[in-house]
Amino acid sequence: MTHILELNHVTKTFKRRGGGQVIAVDNVTFTLRQGQSTMVAVAGESGSGKSTLALLLMGQHEPTSGTVRYLGKDLAAMTKEEKAQLRREIQPIFQDPYGAYNPFYRVDHVLQMAISHYNLAQSEPEADDLIKESLDLVGLRLDETLGRYPFELSGGQRQRLMVARALICKPKIIMADEPVSMVDASLRATILSSLQSLNRRFGISVVYITHDLTTAYQICDNILIMYSGSVVEAGSVEQVIRHPKHPYTQLLISSIPLPDTTQRWVNLEDSVDPTLILSERETTGCRFAPRCPRALEKCWSTMPGIYLPDDHRSVSCFFYDDQPTLGSTDLADVFEYR
Ligand SMILES: Nc1ncnc2c1ncn2[C@@H]1O[C@H](COP(=O)(O)OP(=O)(O)O)[C@@H](O)[C@H]1O
Ligand SMILES: [Mg+2]
Repeated sequence: MTHILELNHVTKTFKRRGGGQVIAVDNVTFTLRQGQSTMVAVAGESGSGKSTLALLLMGQHEPTSGTVRYLGKDLAAMTKEEKAQLRREIQPIFQDPYGAYNPFYRVDHVLQMAISHYNLAQSEPEADDLIKESLDLVGLRLDETLGRYPFELSGGQRQRLMVARALICKPKIIMADEPVSMVDASLRATILSSLQSLNRRFGISVVYITHDLTTAYQICDNILIMYSGSVVEAGSVEQVIRHPKHPYTQLLISSIPLPDTTQRWVNLEDSVDPTLILSERETTGCRFAPRCPRALEKCWSTMPGIYLPDDHRSVSCFFYDDQPTLGSTDLADVFEYR
């Protein structure tokens, strides 16, 4: 099976205002296959590099080092046409759908714009059919949607319309960056299950970016846990959430009442006790060392590698350095595809 996305040692740094630099994404390596059971969560606190990772995957940021490949092709070597294809086939859904609408146009406009921008229909009736089909797929009724202005729709309807807009483009991947953090709890489940059904029915891969481990566990097959730009642990959600191995993931999970996954929404932001920061000491090694209750001396000075303790899991922590290593060139399939 082909890998639709491959990230090989990708780092992205930004200049910090007032000098210095911030490493937003730090040496991230992973692969994603195309098709069913490819709902991958990217989970981490705010500032951990999730959105930067998404923009790298969509070719909207260039990596400072490392390579991003889409369907085997290095994004940095793509022609204009290949870039255009990439932009159609990887569709984003953002946190705040309101920003995507022009308040002076009826909401039909966003759908029509997508069709004309990507040249998806040869005639007006064909365009109408595409619009009807996509609204139907996300459970929006035509009479409740078409001809309305953005302010006449509920937040949930606007967000579902964004999913419909993405679908019109017949994407291979949907990149959903915190798609439900602005809608209320009752709508979250509907929107998330519509993303899940797109994956199950059409094999559209979904990258679900979130700071909420509970929904990640509920809808995704695989997960990346990010901490300060690094992927500290990755693999199947069963392995990572049920049996976490990295001290950071273990801290996160210990604060979630797991048997109760449907009962509480856990934000990564408030799940780790800040008093756990043991020292203000700068680390040149593992980024988590200052908060890690198990840090060894070498954790402060040396970056751990990526170790593979199980079939469907990688961990970046010295506690597992007796396990096989993900080498500098091979991109093993860490995720589980059922
Ligand atoms: N365009 C940018 N310019 C400068 N710094 C940035 C830029 N984008 C992100 N950053 C910084 O990179 C880090 C990761 O940000 P981001 O990817 O947005 O994290 P997240 O989505 O997990 O909240 C943060 O410290 C943020 O301030
Ligand atoms: Mg973000």
